[in-house]
Amino acid sequence: MIGQLKMSDAPCPDSRNLVLTGFMGTGKSTIGQAVAGRLQRPFIDMDEVIVQRAGKSIPSIFADDGEETFRKLERSLCQELARQTGLVIATGGGALVAPDNRAALGHNGLVICLAADPAVLVARLEGDQNRPLLATDDPVQQIKQLLQARTTAYQSLPHHIDTTYLSLEDAVEAVLTLWNKHCM
Ligand code: S3P
Repeated sequence: MIGQLKMSDAPCPDSRNLVLTGFMGTGKSTIGQAVAGRLQRPFIDMDEVIVQRAGKSIPSIFADDGEETFRKLERSLCQELARQTGLVIATGGGALVAPDNRAALGHNGLVICLAADPAVLVARLEGDQNRPLLATDDPVQQIKQLLQARTTAYQSLPHHIDTTYLSLEDAVEAVLTLWNKHCM
């Protein structure tokens, strides 16, 4: 409404990072970018940083160096980002499955886990060529197995938003509402 400040536009002086995590296809990067714009903060897409530094795509890192190497790069980036403030960060979908990475980014960040219905994730991820974990004979089964294997890790995160039925605009509002609610 004209002349009225939306709750999510109220300035929050919190210097912690705002961290979006959750399974592939839940909208972390798109929503994170838009949230960073609204908060006028730098946006860090962890996968993009890893790709830039490695000089090759994520499928190439997995193919040439193995998932283990990718997880090491991810882990050291978590440690690095945990020493910074004022960022909006989108993690890769598996980054915060490891407890030490959850602890690192949660130490000085508000961590929000995005989720969506498995059927919607399957539709969003169908035909994707950039996610090596889904390059199997049966990607649908793989999505279900990975979701199940990660349930406990994701559930242990402090805040959750289901993006299944949310437009980008609504998802951004939901993140900003949580951010302002937990502003320190
Ligand atoms: C992964 C998710 C990907 C990327 C890598 C591994 C995972 O990121 O980090 O392919 O383990 O779930 P997105 O969640 O951005 O697709």
